[in-house]
Amino acid sequence: MSELAVEIKDLVKEFPTAIKRTPHRAVDQVSLTIAPGQVYGLIGPNGSGKSTTMKALLGLLAPTSGSCEIFGKNSLKTDSRKDVGYLPENPYFYKHLTGRETLKFYGKLCGMKGSSLKARIEELLELTSLGEAGGRRLAGYSKGMLQRIGLAQALIQSPRLLILDEPTAGVDPLGSRQIRDLILNLKSQGITVFLCSHLLEQVQEICDTIGIIHQGKMLKQGPLDKLVALEDQTEVMLQNASPQLLAKIKQLVTADPESTFLSCSHPRTSLERLFLEETK
Ligand SMILES: Nc1ncnc2c1ncn2[C@@H]1O[C@H](COP(=O)(O)OP(=O)(O)O)[C@@H](O)[C@H]1O
Ligand SMILES: [Mg+2]
Repeated sequence: MSELAVEIKDLVKEFPTAIKRTPHRAVDQVSLTIAPGQVYGLIGPNGSGKSTTMKALLGLLAPTSGSCEIFGKNSLKTDSRKDVGYLPENPYFYKHLTGRETLKFYGKLCGMKGSSLKARIEELLELTSLGEAGGRRLAGYSKGMLQRIGLAQALIQSPRLLILDEPTAGVDPLGSRQIRDLILNLKSQGITVFLCSHLLEQVQEICDTIGIIHQGKMLKQGPLDKLVALEDQTEVMLQNASPQLLAKIKQLVTADPESTFLSCSHPRTSLERLFLEETK
């Protein structure tokens, strides 16, 4: 069996509380696995334990019990981090640095230097569509641009696993579209992505596997297609169907003892697609 990118086993994380004696259990017996190349979306409302799960996986928080592994290495060991890129929720950047200087700073922190770092920076600015903005200070960047420079920072040492905490939160529709396209692009390059979000439609679009977390507990997880399929329903789409033809189809279905005619209507475009079309 090939090595898993992520394996979280029975993770529990408790935080002490100021008033009550019993600690607050932010993550409660969460288990999940991510195979290489998958895009896993952890969804849940605010405060459900998404960021805490990610921080435990990154080894930034020690689990109360349970364990986390990245490519077979325990998260508490520093060598587990060499194959990981991380975009935190609300990342903090030095606003007086330019995009290019920011990436240089993070590259050097990772031990990169010289012409290979320079080439990697240009490659990442290109990938995140920040080529022209690379010489401008981050103080003038939009929220979407800041998230993209954050993504570029996470990719600096060509990680095999990318952990993204709410990558599109607070970004306008156009900026959010760019970030989702970028994630799909990374997926096509075989990079494993573990992201969390409370923006359900966006998760549905880019993730192949999802987990639903609520009050620290994993309620359901599995392949997205399976979880959202209505197995007993079938959709048939026709172009230029006449009312007569539709009436005949309806008659045929009504005559069948086992099936039921549920609906017949024009498909709708998503509000997002309509917005992007109009603002193009
Ligand atoms: N460092 C901390 N100290 C105390 N409580 C925390 C800490 N970090 C998170 N929590 C609590 O744990 C719960 C889960 O938080 P979090 O993982 O950030 O949720 P999410 O990312 O899903 O919004 C929340 O109730 C939050 O208040
Ligand atoms: Mg969070």
